[in-house]
Amino acid sequence: MSNIKPSNELSLLQAGSIIRRGGLVAFPTETVYGLGVNASDDKAVASLFKTKQRPEFNPLVLHLANIKDADRLAFVDEKTKMLIRRFWPGSLTIVLKRRPEAPISELVNAGLDTIALRVPNNPIAHALLRFAACPVAATSANSSGMISPTVAAHVKESFGDKIDMILDGGKCTVGVESTILDMSKEQPILLRSGGVPLEDIEAIIGHVKIKNAEESISHYTPKLPIRLNAASAKKGEALLGFGDAPNADMNLSRSKDVTEAAANLFSMIRELDKGAFTGIAVMTIPEEGLGVAINDRLAKTLIQKKQDKA
Ligand code: TXA
Ligand code: MG
Repeated sequence: MSNIKPSNELSLLQAGSIIRRGGLVAFPTETVYGLGVNASDDKAVASLFKTKQRPEFNPLVLHLANIKDADRLAFVDEKTKMLIRRFWPGSLTIVLKRRPEAPISELVNAGLDTIALRVPNNPIAHALLRFAACPVAATSANSSGMISPTVAAHVKESFGDKIDMILDGGKCTVGVESTILDMSKEQPILLRSGGVPLEDIEAIIGHVKIKNAEESISHYTPKLPIRLNAASAKKGEALLGFGDAPNADMNLSRSKDVTEAAANLFSMIRELDKGAFTGIAVMTIPEEGLGVAINDRLAKTLIQKKQDKA
């Protein structure tokens, strides 16, 4: 049986419950089809990255049913409220400072202290988000490297039966991704052009800076130095284990499951980063599945540290 389902009350209820329980559902929005998961569930978020075969952990956009939910997840300033009144529901994604207590997996925002939010303008997306009754993180429903899907059949081409359900909502009306605006800093920054034109945004909040190379590589970097491929901790270091490691301070995955390790990565590094250590030694993680993305992110952290020092 095909996993493409016409959107109706029954399929939407099923889809909502699949997401709540940790599964993957593709759904239409007005921009492009999204692939959604329960944003509070580390393992579900890791499985989304695995399915998408992304070579790295890009942060995901939280899709909300209600405009009011933004306040519970992020700090919303007055300028942003003006944008929200004008453009939500709609094709504007807004990056804001995340509330530390927001019940969202660290993997959703790849360890950053910001979070991207959007209220899609599509009745099917809206119903799904309501039925899921949990925060939903979604990314465009294409495998990494392919263009964003605007009909259900494109989603099927990327993922086949690897996802639990594809809700068919016909062709996306906007057809390009949302505009992404970073409102988390003093100066608003356009991170991606999309469904809402820049002029319309500037008409509300005035001048917007266009991102430069620096802003496009904002990655979470821990304060402590990280050492890779460690067999054990040196004096003062925390040991972040993988596999059998009785001396580890925390363990990414005792059973050597790279997807589980990805689910734990950012929250564990954050936790160790707060402790009284001189550094974090990370045991060897195999270059397979999500292990590639984990190693890539850890290596980038090291490169960034070197630049900080230079
Ligand atoms: O129209 C859209 O935005 C579609 C539909 C499904 O809603 N979604 C989409 O998601 O295009 P995705 O994952 O393909 O692109 C989202 C972009 C990523 O490039 C990511 O880097 C950026 O949003 N992003 C997410 N959170 C961010 C954050 N906290 N700071 C900066 N950029 C962020
Ligand atoms: Mg995309």
